[in-house]
Amino acid sequence: MSEIRLSSEKKLRLFSGRGFPELSEQVATELGIPLTPTSAYDFANGEIFVRFEESVRGCDAFVIQSHSAPINKQIMEQLIMIDALKRASAKRITVVAPFYAYARQDKKSRGREPITARLMADLFKAAGADRLMVVDLHTSQIQGFFDGPVDHLFALPMLANYVGSKVDRSKLTIVSPDSGRVRVAERWSELLGGCPIAFIHKTRDPLIPNEAVVGKVVGDVEGRTCVVIDDMIDTAGTITKAVDALFEGGAKDVIIAATHAVFSGPAVDRLRDCRAVEVVVTDSLPLSEDQKFDKLTVLSIAPLLARAIREVFEDGSVTSLFDGHS
Ligand code: R5P
Repeated sequence: MSEIRLSSEKKLRLFSGRGFPELSEQVATELGIPLTPTSAYDFANGEIFVRFEESVRGCDAFVIQSHSAPINKQIMEQLIMIDALKRASAKRITVVAPFYAYARQDKKSRGREPITARLMADLFKAAGADRLMVVDLHTSQIQGFFDGPVDHLFALPMLANYVGSKVDRSKLTIVSPDSGRVRVAERWSELLGGCPIAFIHKTRDPLIPNEAVVGKVVGDVEGRTCVVIDDMIDTAGTITKAVDALFEGGAKDVIIAATHAVFSGPAVDRLRDCRAVEVVVTDSLPLSEDQKFDKLTVLSIAPLLARAIREVFEDGSVTSLFDGHS
């Protein structure tokens, strides 16, 4: 009788959607493995077709997709990739969504509204995902929407280290653009030696999307170098109005720091024209050449994603990547 060999060895495989293949390539390079060859194309009516060109049976699959514009297409492509992996017997499937789309729709503000951040998690689960990996979620509670482990990674320390290396920390004030992000501003402050924080009192008309109304600065920013922080810059209305309010409050300099550069509509013009000396973001989303401008600095999250993927694959500790903060 011939001997049957049992192998419990897992194989790490990376798969990239078409949202931001350059980021996936960088993650692959960091990990020292190739992306699994994948064919993907659109039918004339917009339907997406995906096929992997190698066997994926039994692998530990990480599906990287940036939820960039056109956002619904990128999400659908990632769902289709998960479905294909499930049907081809991948052992475990992790969704890597550096920017988790629809995160701002995380609760019902009024009757008859959806909770689309929850719907997203349900869609990933229904498609066959076992695990989710995301960076700087709009709110941490979104982790609870997914029925399975969620690795919530933080680009915040990387942004804070960069800013901290460029300014006199004794003159620094961290500014939250609204009251909801004060906890994040406190984390920045902890990382930068306990500098003071301030926040902007912001109100928003729920009937007018993408239109922030900025009130006044709460905290002392007179003569300070202010770092105004946010999870994302979409149209840049929120952050540039915050910059104006800070200068009106007597700030000496302002730096903008945000994780996700969504940069829709007027964002680039607003950022270029505002009085902030520098705009620091990560590459969680792709930026075209005409979305780049002189005072923009883009930090790479590829090393962070690669470290987290390695830890998950080797059953190590992802928490250790955040110094105990989750
Ligand atoms: C709001 O809660 C978010 O954290 C951002 O401040 C907001 O979505 C940014 O949008 P925009 O750049 O269009 O003002």
